[in-house]
Amino acid sequence: RQSTAIAPSILSANFARLGEEVDNVLAAGADWVHFDVMDNHYVPNLTIGPLVCEALRKHGVTAPIDVHLMVKPVDRIVPDFAKAGATYISFHPEASDHVDRTIQLIRSLGCKPGLVFNPATPLSYLDYTLDQLDLVLIMSVNPGFGGQSFIPSALDKLARVREMIDRGGREVRLEIDGGVKPDNIGEIAAAGADTFVAGSAIFGKPDYAGIVRAMKDAVDK
Ligand code: DX5
Ligand code: ZN
Repeated sequence: RQSTAIAPSILSANFARLGEEVDNVLAAGADWVHFDVMDNHYVPNLTIGPLVCEALRKHGVTAPIDVHLMVKPVDRIVPDFAKAGATYISFHPEASDHVDRTIQLIRSLGCKPGLVFNPATPLSYLDYTLDQLDLVLIMSVNPGFGGQSFIPSALDKLARVREMIDRGGREVRLEIDGGVKPDNIGEIAAAGADTFVAGSAIFGKPDYAGIVRAMKDAVDK
């Protein structure tokens, strides 16, 4: 099993002081930076793009930046994120006309490709792609907004993907995104996730280190 990664979603951070927020959450023990890109087209919200990713790198962030593209089309924006310093680039298969091509594009630019599954997206998209992915992201909310509640059917989905990954024998991170809190992260880890996005559970709270620690403790229990 892979090591645990806590990936705070900066969607819930204070954007007026983003560099400081990211420094603080990483100093608090977080492992990755989850970077939610929304285009007001594929999802009903508008957030941040490659300029902000590049600015975080220039600010000195060395942790993995986990870019979650909620955009359509996908391919046009991928090279900009690769140049901006993205580590992982994940996309929704429904938003790409050629899923295999997009995976190869991300890989060819030196980034790690991930595929994202909405609550109603079938896992059959993994049939011919899993052996080329570095990450599978299971959405436990419908994408577009932070602060929604966890959709329980994601647990069964995680368990099924866990089995597929273990059967394949390659290292693939299994990430969960949406409504993750210290009080449900234990059962999410038990279902097979190793990488945990959390936005509203962390940002805006007084003690980032306390929450990150509580999450890691609950995963290890
Ligand atoms: C939703 C985003 C999530 C979101 C998570 O579309 O992909 O990353 O920010 O926020 P919380 O943890 O508040 O559900
Ligand atoms: Zn996300």
